Amino acid sequence: MSYAIEFNHLTKRFGNHTVLDDLNFNIHEGKITTILGFSGAGKSTVLKHILGIYHPTEGQVKVLGQDMEKMNEGQIREFRTNFGMVFQYAALFDSMTNFENVAFPMKEFTNYTKEEIEEKAIGLMKQVGLDEFAFHKLPSEISGGMRKRVGLARALALQPKVMLYDEPTTGLDPITTHMVDDLITSTHNHNAHLPMTSVIISHDIAATLRISDYVAFLEKGKTVVHAPVEEFRKSDHPVIKKFIELST
Ligand SMILES: Nc1ncnc2c1ncn2[C@@H]1O[C@H](COP(=O)(O)OP(=O)(O)O)[C@@H](O)[C@H]1O
Ligand SMILES: [Mg+2]
Repeated sequence: MSYAIEFNHLTKRFGNHTVLDDLNFNIHEGKITTILGFSGAGKSTVLKHILGIYHPTEGQVKVLGQDMEKMNEGQIREFRTNFGMVFQYAALFDSMTNFENVAFPMKEFTNYTKEEIEEKAIGLMKQVGLDEFAFHKLPSEISGGMRKRVGLARALALQPKVMLYDEPTTGLDPITTHMVDDLITSTHNHNAHLPMTSVIISHDIAATLRISDYVAFLEKGKTVVHAPVEEFRKSDHPVIKKFIELST
């Protein structure tokens, strides 16, 4: 069993406010793991450590076997091309067409020719089910669900080993939520010979139970349960029972 991401005694304090408290858990390579918890539990803080945006107060985070604390800014920027990041709001560049948004990371980080970029961008937009009429429109000219697809295609542009989703379905209607869940799953399974690790930050229990292989439940900066989804579902931990009760 190998791990894509390892948290070893990770503690993060802001002043004297301890947000992550001796966090120890590992994210399995090639699986979908959801980090679940109430608002303020420290989920986004965990994500920012994975991306090397925040630095541990104590302890260590290893991503793909590497400790980003040992890298300089340039190396971290380069290393981040291993990640595809999907935000709650698609966070697209408003003044670029959808196609240009998807092409952007390839222009910035690869030596692909114009033709190669075009071919790959179109392939990615098709992979995520974006209608062709939308390719050369602006993000503001398409629906929220379509923008999610564009954001996903852009996140996939550099063939990331790890996909990170921060609250991907928060604020969406139930139908779009299902669509995004299906997209996450199909993206995860797209390349059987290039296994991808997917990490989802969420407080949506139904979606979590539907699509995750593993669930890590975070409370007060600690994982109270980290288990395969079937085990998590049966957990009789009071905090998790309360969470499920409040969410359904
Ligand atoms: N840069 C920061 N400075 C001070 N406090 C922060 C900072 N980032 C996060 N926090 C605090 O950490 C706690 C957890 O935040 P966060 O990780 O965003 O929670 P979640 O994503 O689970 O809702 C909050 O109390 C928040 O105020
Ligand atoms: Mg958050």
